This record gives sequence, structure tokens and C-alpha cells, in this order.
Amino acid sequence: MRLTKMLSFAKELRGKKPVDIDKIQSMGLLAVKLGQICALRPDLLDPDRCIQLQELYSRAPTIPQENFEQLLTKYTDENFRSNFKHIDSKPFAAASIGQIHRAELLDGTKVVIKIIKADFEKSFRRDVKRMKRWVKMGLFFNPKLKKVGNPIGLLSHIEDYTLRELNLLNEIKGKQRLEQLAIDYNDKFPMPKLSFPKIWENLSNERVLVIEEITAPTLESHLNAQTMEWDDLLQLFRIHGAFMFGMGVFHGDLHPGNAMMTKDKDFIFIDTGAICEAPNHVRKALFGFFYFLAKGELKNAFDAMLTMADVEPTGETLEIYYSSMFELYDGFVGTSVSEVSLTEQMMKTVRAAVLAGCSFGDDAFPIIRSLMYMDGMVLKGHPNVDLISSMGPYLDEFATLIDPTTLLERTPVAQRKLVGKNRPLITKTAA
Ligand SMILES: Nc1ncnc2c1ncn2[C@@H]1O[C@H](COP(=O)(O)OP(=O)(O)O)[C@@H](O)[C@H]1O
Ligand SMILES: [Mg+2]
Repeated sequence: MRLTKMLSFAKELRGKKPVDIDKIQSMGLLAVKLGQICALRPDLLDPDRCIQLQELYSRAPTIPQENFEQLLTKYTDENFRSNFKHIDSKPFAAASIGQIHRAELLDGTKVVIKIIKADFEKSFRRDVKRMKRWVKMGLFFNPKLKKVGNPIGLLSHIEDYTLRELNLLNEIKGKQRLEQLAIDYNDKFPMPKLSFPKIWENLSNERVLVIEEITAPTLESHLNAQTMEWDDLLQLFRIHGAFMFGMGVFHGDLHPGNAMMTKDKDFIFIDTGAICEAPNHVRKALFGFFYFLAKGELKNAFDAMLTMADVEPTGETLEIYYSSMFELYDGFVGTSVSEVSLTEQMMKTVRAAVLAGCSFGDDAFPIIRSLMYMDGMVLKGHPNVDLISSMGPYLDEFATLIDPTTLLERTPVAQRKLVGKNRPLITKTAA
């Protein structure tokens, strides 16, 4: 990203005029990915702007029909088309990386073809490299910027998951991984309401996937049409929460455009290219926090969170932590989501925990983002519910996957499983 582009991107984020989604999209994939992350940071941006930015999850430009034909020819071999009765060259959906076309196999099976819209990789890598350089310089000249966390770590995280998304074969691997986990845990925690679309591997490659067409509406459509009941959201939380907290491996991008719900209230997860892992000490700490919070045991909740601190806080640090947490959660349980945005609350919680010595590395970020997606869905569909209390019975059910008697035990730092480079994104300087 060039400096001029970066400045005009910053203006979109912080300016007074409404966010211009098309403009951000025209700035390239990195700008879109950064915008999507900023959409989840009401602690940094005006909450109204965050909501506007959330459009970046679903709205995306499509490429002209003739380019689709060219791309399809380029990405597949000469026999590919002979497998289809018909391929619609007009897309019916698009997101930041791929677009989706309806097609029909010779036997009449309705499928969709997902194709990578452009050759993003080179320009994306270049943009990330440039941006890292600007950020390093910015930090050097303005050390105060460090307060927003570890921007270089964040950029590396975006780089990593975006490059994974650019290879569609990862979507097949991700689907298989989640499917296998569901089978492995079937006795302990059955998930009969979850399924995944069939993918024709023999017709797919890094840039083209042939997937069973799902006719059920996406959760986004359901939320817009007000056809997602409160219990449906809880069922989704039950499934996704079991992956996140119970198994530590989960769909890393489960926003409402990436799952469908059928008439029978079954869920279908799509776009499984980014599977994320949460290390045990992080998922245990976050689970413990919610588990005790739902029971109204605030002190235990705060202590559970501290089990992920690198160094156990003592003295004044500990006192400040407790007092800021008790202040934050005074009267919180029992209030509705519209009264206290969970996302905002979570950001403040993260801040208090960071000050007490917890570090939220790259590996904690996906689980937090997932929780924010859930919060966003609740806020849109059922703003008047008391989320934390309703989560209670499900948190109890997760206790078949995580032993609740161990929730207040610290994992020694040396025994913590590190995923990736594990550099904290939000560090202790975030005062
Ligand atoms: N198998 C499918 N059947 C029907 N619609 C689909 C299917 N896969 C994707 N879509 C539609 O296309 C949109 C974008 O697809 P997705 O796989 O999420 O692409 P991206 O990776 O670009 O986000 C989805 O939100 C959904 O509306
Ligand atoms: Mg998607």
C-alpha cells in the first residue's frame, strides 16, 4: 500500500463522512481485510463507523462476465466444461476473494462454482510489505501508536490467513477437519444439526471449487428477514462454542455470510478456508470467564481470566485489575445486549486483562473475533435478550469437554502450546 493510499484509507476510518465501502474495496485486498478488522474495534473507532464497515463482510464487487470466462479457462483444463450441462457466467454472490456462479452437472445436480476473482497474491504481498515498513516508521516517530497494540503482529496475522484463503484447496481441508472433529466428539457432544456442503474434489483446484448448491438462506438473509429465532442463535452458539472452547479448533471466519440455516433449523458451514486454533490456556481462560460469569460468580470469572497471564499479578496490579473488572461487570449479568454491547464490553475486558499481564497473541485473536461475530448477530436479531444468562445451560454442556474443576488452575508458561509465532497483538503497553 502506498502512503497516499494508506492516508486515504485512514480518512475513511476516522473521517466525518459515512464510510465509502466502494472506495475501500478499490484500495485492494489488504485495505478490505484491515477494514473488516476495524469493524470489530469499537474501542478504537466510533461504533457507528464499525457497523458501516461490517458491510465489507458481505458486499464486494464482481468481475465482468467475459473475465469470468477467461479466468475459468485459465484455471481449469480443457475437459473441465464437459462435466457441466450449463455454467452461469453471471455471478450470484461475491465476497472479497471469490465469486460464486451457479452451474449444473451432467446428471442434473445443481452446484456452484467458486472462483478466485483475480490474481491477488502478488499485489497483496507487496501491499503488506509496504504497510509493515510504514508502520515501523510510524512507530519509530510516534511511539504513542504502540498503545493500539502490536500492529506488525496484526499485519502478519492478516497476511497469514489471507494467503491461506487464496488457496481454495484449504477450504476442502478445513471442511474435512471440522467434519472429522464432529465425528470424533460425537459420543461426548453430538452435533446432528451441523453439516457441510459436498465438494467435488476431482473438479476442484487451488483457484476453482465445485460445491453442492445450498438453497437455504445464509444467516445474514435470515437476520435481515427476522427469521432467525433466539433459539436458533443459541443452537449456533452451542455448535461453534463446542469447537472454540471444547476442541480448540474452529471455523475462523464464521460471520453470517458464511453459514446457512435450513427450514429444519440445520446449519451448514461454508467458506472453511480459515480454520483457527486456540491454545489450551487461552480457550480455558475464556471459557472459565464466561462459565463463572453466567453463574454470577464474578470473582471466579475474573480469576479464570487471569490463568492466562504470563506472570501471575500481585499487589497493586491485582487490586487495580479486580476493581476495574468489578466496575465493568457491576450489573452486567441480566442486562440485554442492546444495553451493553458485548463487543465493547469485551474490548474493555481485554484491556483490563492486558494491564494485569495477560497477553492476547495472534492465537487469541480469532476466538475473540468469533465471539464478536456472535455478538453482532445477537445485536441484529435479538437485541433485547440477556445473552450471558441464556448462555449458561450451553456453557454447562461444554463442561463435558472441559473439566470445570480445572478452570482456576494456571498452565505453566513452559507448557503452553504455541500456535504459529504467538506474538501478542495486544500487549501490555495498551494502557
Ligand atoms: N455452496 C453454496 N451454495 C449456495 N450459495 C453459496 C455457496 N457457497 C457460497 N455461496 C454464496 O456466496 C457467498 C460467498 O461465498 P463464500 O464461499 O463465503 O466466498 P468468500 O470466500 O469470497 O467469502 C456466500 O455468502 C453465499 O451467499
Ligand atoms: Mg465468505
